[in-house]
This record gives sequence, structure tokens and C-alpha cells, in this order.
Amino acid sequence: MAMFARPLLAALLLPAFLLSAASAADSKNNPADQLVTLINSNRTASKASTVSDNQGLGCIALQYIKAYEGQCDQVDDKKPMESSFTDTFAPTCGVQATTLSKITGRLVGCQSKYVSPAEAFDILVNDAKGLQILHSKNHTEVGAAVSGTDGGGPYFWCVLFSDGKPTTSFKVDGEVPKTAIHPGCFSGNNDDCMGPTNGAISINAGASWLVAALLFAVACAFAL
Ligand SMILES: *[C@@H]1O[C@H](CO)[C@@H](O)[C@H](O)[C@H]1NC(C)=O
Ligand SMILES: *[C@@H]1O[C@H](CO)[C@@H](O)[C@H](O)[C@H]1NC(C)=O
Repeated sequence: MAMFARPLLAALLLPAFLLSAASAADSKNNPADQLVTLINSNRTASKASTVSDNQGLGCIALQYIKAYEGQCDQVDDKKPMESSFTDTFAPTCGVQATTLSKITGRLVGCQSKYVSPAEAFDILVNDAKGLQILHSKNHTEVGAAVSGTDGGGPYFWCVLFSDGKPTTSFKVDGEVPKTAIHPGCFSGNNDDCMGPTNGAISINAGASWLVAALLFAVACAFAL
């Protein structure tokens, strides 16, 4: 029995090791960053330049979502007042008011369920107008955000583009205040923000189940 158990154990543990190594390497556990990656690869495929990910603009995209107060049906025809950028979004994010730059495009979507960044991309860019916004040569930088509402749906996605200079626009004083972050995720700040409390569901949930299943299998192997 012992002779069989060891290779069996190794065979069962190896995938578990590989899985945990893979998730450790994936430090950007952030659906907003993943959406920016999709935006840039789609832009470059259409010969548009990449846009740089600006955390100040990303944080503002998150406050932009919060302005809807969970009202999904308003995303298509209403948008927050322009004055909100200077009055609330920038101060909440610690963005210096003098560094606010022009918004050259916006994509906003809302879904009752949490979807993957790839699905969100398809929802945000679902017609010719969306594609024109996505590919516009006017943009130099981007900020993206996703957030649920009160720990569940609906889930909002927002992408803001600007023509500001990435190094000098939407500049954050020190760090983005914690109160500006949760719940929700925004791009450009390396925030590891997966998890139900942040309004985004962990993509690792599947992997955790697999590890749990493997450990269960290991336990069974010992029990034999
Ligand atoms: C870019 O996105 C549009 C809209 O979703 C899609 O139709 C197109 O195939 C994408 N291009 C590439 C190269 O993925
Ligand atoms: C780019 O900016 C110019 C000037 O503001 C504007 O007229 C044009 O419509 C913009 N292009 C796109 C694709 O948004």
C-alpha cells in the first residue's frame, strides 16, 4: 500500500503546487486592469496606439460608477454632471484638481450578474459608436473600473479615456485614499481587489475548488 501511496500522492500534489505557483505569479488580480489589457490589444490590432493606464483616472472611473447609485437602467441615457469631476470625483480620489484633463471618451455598462472582463468588453463595445470610441486616436490614457452594488449586483463597468499627458494628468497626492477604493476595483494601481466585498468575484474560485478536490482526493488516498 505505502509503495502505491507515495507516487499517487506526488501525482495529486503536483498540480496543486503548479496551481498555487501560477496564482502567486499573477499579482494583477484586478478585472479593471484586465479590461485595460483587452482595450489595448484591440486598439493595437486596429493600428491605434496603446493608451496608458492612469490610476487617478481609474479611481475617477470608479466614482463615476458610484454616482449611478446602483441604478442600472440609467447608464444609457444619463451621466453624472461635468461638475462632479471637480466637486466630488477628484477630491475623493486625492487627484489634484489642476491636473484634471479632458475626457475624450467613455464607455459605461451595467449587468445584473458579474461577468468576466472579456464579456464586459463585448458589452461595452457592442456597436459602431462603441468601436469608434474604443479606437479614437484622440485618447492618450485610460482609466477603468468595476463595482458591484451593496455586496452584489448590479455590476457596473466604466472606461474613461482622456487626451491628457499620462505623467502629469490626474495626479494623485500621495496615495489614493482607502475610502475611494472599496467596494470596487480600478485600473492602474496594482490593487489586488478580487473578492465579493470588492464587488468583483474571484476568478480563482474555480482553482480553489480544484485544490480542495485534490486535497480531498489526497485524504482519500491516505484513508485507503
Ligand atoms: C475588437 O473589438 C471589436 C468589438 O468587440 C471586435 O469586433 C473585433 O473583432 C476586435 N478586434 C480584435 C482584433 O480582437
Ligand atoms: C477627436 O477630437 C476632435 C476635436 O475635439 C473631435 O472633433 C473628434 O470628433 C474626436 N474624434 C473622435 C473619434 O472622438
